[in-house]
Amino acid sequence: MSSSELWPVEAVRRRFPALSRQVGDRPAVFLDGPAGSQVPQSVADAVCRYLLQTNANRGASFATSKESDAILNAAHRALADFLGTPDPDEVCFGANMTTLTFQLSRALSRQWTPGDQIVVCQADHDANYTPWVLAARDRGITVRSVPADPLDGTLDLDSLDKVLSEKTRLLAVGLAGNATGTIHPVGEICRRAHAVDALVYVDAVHFAPHRRIQVGQLACDFLVCSAYKFFGPHVGVLWGRRDLLEDIRPYRLRPAPDRLPGRWMTGTQCHEGIAGAAAAVDYIASLAAADSAEVIPHTRPEQLDRAFERIATWEQMLSKRLLEGLLSIPGLTLYGISDPDRIDQRVPTMSIRTETIRPQELAERLAADGIFVWAGNHYALPWTESAGLEPDGTLRLGALHYNTIEEIDRAVDSLRRLCG
Ligand SMILES: Cc1ncc(COP(=O)(O)O)c(C=O)c1O
Repeated sequence: MSSSELWPVEAVRRRFPALSRQVGDRPAVFLDGPAGSQVPQSVADAVCRYLLQTNANRGASFATSKESDAILNAAHRALADFLGTPDPDEVCFGANMTTLTFQLSRALSRQWTPGDQIVVCQADHDANYTPWVLAARDRGITVRSVPADPLDGTLDLDSLDKVLSEKTRLLAVGLAGNATGTIHPVGEICRRAHAVDALVYVDAVHFAPHRRIQVGQLACDFLVCSAYKFFGPHVGVLWGRRDLLEDIRPYRLRPAPDRLPGRWMTGTQCHEGIAGAAAAVDYIASLAAADSAEVIPHTRPEQLDRAFERIATWEQMLSKRLLEGLLSIPGLTLYGISDPDRIDQRVPTMSIRTETIRPQELAERLAADGIFVWAGNHYALPWTESAGLEPDGTLRLGALHYNTIEEIDRAVDSLRRLCG
């Protein structure tokens, strides 16, 4: 099967106006997805449609307010499908993952008492680390940390067993590392945390554009993601178990709703962004079939299952190509899983350092070549610090399903030339 039969990447790319950008006389190569994906036309249309036709606050009896209610209720359903829950009230929107995590950690930590402990993971983005560390400090409780491998970013599960105890109230863990691309065995981690009655808060921000999320299968207690990483606008999404979201007391204004999901959604939300987040879910669901001749699964959850299977297959090809290319460059160190036989344990996000050029300078030179990548700590500071990579951090290349093999080759060729 040819790669275009496997995945019609050119047709997919035509749906993203930004991808036709040129830098000088060459097409831009967007390998900056881990910091934010590009947006298909359908998502931008949904945002504009909301603003131009239905812009209103919620809960009034006039037409635009009623239409707003309908659009936002539909968005809760879309995101419930995306996260694998039948209950749309378990989905709460907010400004971004960081803000939602600060909010939930403040509220949850009111239940902690001296002697309690929480566990954080060194492989995580700082947004799933510092909010918990600060909440623990405010409550005077102990923070334990699970180390991550300095080269491939995998979590040390033996250490996890050592830090978990009947004192552990919460474990915060990420589904995939945003510097290394390493996927963590969160289902197994939840099982171990639940064995000591600890709650598990999962950061799915980096994982969400790459693989299907099923909160029921993970059996976690909370999960957060951000629509701007999965082809939507800048909106954060929090899922929580209904009993917990109902039980924990949020910081809330008196006239604001006390029912789910409103009790966790402070202030007036970014309605247009939420409409766009739902359109992003529909965009991903539309990738279930290669073309109109193929049978499309019936329900949106089934479409998402199929779409993510196809995305994962294409991304694994991109990962293998990128790995092969990077590992062939002399003097380059690759961070993240590098064994092609373990390609299913990573997403196509790779960090590198070279012996000759610092990450920031490399990123600037690649930008001049039209290749968009990030350098620094990527806010994955718990890992870059523990891996001894500060202050320069790494150069990060991150592919998404709209990237092509040719783009990967162009990035590798540029790197080879710059490092040579
Ligand atoms: C893995 C991961 N977690 C959390 C965040 C923070 O997300 P937000 O920008 O929505 O606050 C990011 C953002 O880059 C991320 O990559």
